[in-house]
Amino acid sequence: MNSSFWHQRWENNEIGFHEGKPNQLLVKYFHELSVAKGRWIFVPLCGKTLDISWLLSRGYRVAGAELSQLAIEQLFMELGMQPEIETVGNVEHWSANNLDIFVGDIFAMSGKMLGPIDAVYDRAALVAFPEDLRNRYAAHLMEMTGKAPQLLICYDYDQSLMEGPPFSVSNDEVHRHYAATYDLTPLASTEVSGGLKGKGPARENVWLLKRGER
Ligand SMILES: C[S@@+](CC[C@H](N)C(=O)[O-])C[C@H]1O[C@@H](n2cnc3c(N)ncnc32)[C@H](O)[C@@H]1O
Repeated sequence: MNSSFWHQRWENNEIGFHEGKPNQLLVKYFHELSVAKGRWIFVPLCGKTLDISWLLSRGYRVAGAELSQLAIEQLFMELGMQPEIETVGNVEHWSANNLDIFVGDIFAMSGKMLGPIDAVYDRAALVAFPEDLRNRYAAHLMEMTGKAPQLLICYDYDQSLMEGPPFSVSNDEVHRHYAATYDLTPLASTEVSGGLKGKGPARENVWLLKRGER
């Protein structure tokens, strides 16, 4: 997926992925990360998700990465926050109380820009990338967050039935990206009601990725 695909989606308001309330899997499983309030949660490819406001309201600090400036303008407006904006390298840093959003390509961002991260919440980020970019994304995410624990939500379906995004990420693939670094715990696996975009059966899988004793 190139960047113009996503810019166009935001310009045309074709944002079917955006949910009108905090993600119910986040609400149900976030505690599994065991992160203390006041810690930093990184939301890669954040769009203007209401999950950010949910995390802030529970006392967390949130860092995000998003390509679309339009999405982030809407995010700050809907949160009722006035950002301070500065340029850092090839991206813009939009900040307000407890919120740090980097606007640009996630691959142009570094751990140094991001600062210390205590946990990652990946909903619709890994699955937003086609296969050839997912290896690069997973490695970059671990590198930039110092291998912080993750709550990961993926779809698994027959990729021949539909083009992504969201792309299918099988359980085997999750292991390929992350099992060398984390202990992987499947928290939930549910059938997507009515299938994914009505094209065929799909499962939505929730994973907890934590570093064990090694
Ligand atoms: C499927 S949406 C998910 C948004 C959000 N996580 C949610 O749950 O609503 C993927 C988002 O990633 C952004 N995006 C795509 N490629 C990106 C990249 N290389 N760097 C940063 N953001 C990107 C898109 O603009 C889009 O808003």
